[in-house]
Amino acid sequence: MRRKLAAGNWKMNGLSAALSEVEALKAAHPAALVDILICPPATLVSSAAQATPGSPIAIGGQDCHQNQNGAHTGDLSAQMFADCGATAVILGHSERREDHEESSEIVRAKARAAHAAGLVSVICMGESLAQREAANTLDIIAGQLSASIPDDCTGENLVIAYEPIWAIGTGLVPSLDQIGEVHDFIRARLERRFGAGVGRSVRLLYGGSVKPDNAADIFRVSNVDGALVGGASLKQGDFTPIIRALEDSI
Ligand code: 13P
Repeated sequence: MRRKLAAGNWKMNGLSAALSEVEALKAAHPAALVDILICPPATLVSSAAQATPGSPIAIGGQDCHQNQNGAHTGDLSAQMFADCGATAVILGHSERREDHEESSEIVRAKARAAHAAGLVSVICMGESLAQREAANTLDIIAGQLSASIPDDCTGENLVIAYEPIWAIGTGLVPSLDQIGEVHDFIRARLERRFGAGVGRSVRLLYGGSVKPDNAADIFRVSNVDGALVGGASLKQGDFTPIIRALEDSI
């Protein structure tokens, strides 16, 4: 039985005052029935982790370098995130694939580094609008799956987020059938590659314009084990109804 996961990606948003949102989440969900993960900017990871010990809220990074240390000015290693209290890291978000020209091969190397540091990798993938309109979605996902996911994956250290690029921050959401088609496809590919045990235990999140008013419908789709939420994770008042919708879907 996969435990559901509500993950928030704050992206490049949040100064120290935003830690009050983490405190508010902690107060609103003292005994959550689902896992909750907040990935604030790297500057807040340590203080967010210190604010949530023993709570159902885990803290994660939004990216890490593939090396453990060295001459990589401005970069942060997986070990550094683990050292300051993170338990997970988002990797291969489309904004990083685009803004930083990250290839799936780099994402795979980063995931290996994350796993070696004891972090859960939340590996993102998804098609552009042009790719969807050309009916290439499943081919794109297949390619990203085989190239971005390392061989050392387990149900404990890997979470996959399907995030269609055209749905991120746009208010556009694929139909429930479209979400289900991709999630079923990812599940089948994972089972084929890793076997039924691991393949069935990896959690699959949907991401892209998840809001309080569409979350319950999305959480009813097969093989959707939760969500990776951007804008609606910034405020506890928006994220809490999404977390509750996920709890209600159990
Ligand atoms: P939005 O929820 O703001 O569309 O962002 C989704 C996302 O990119 C999460 O990683």
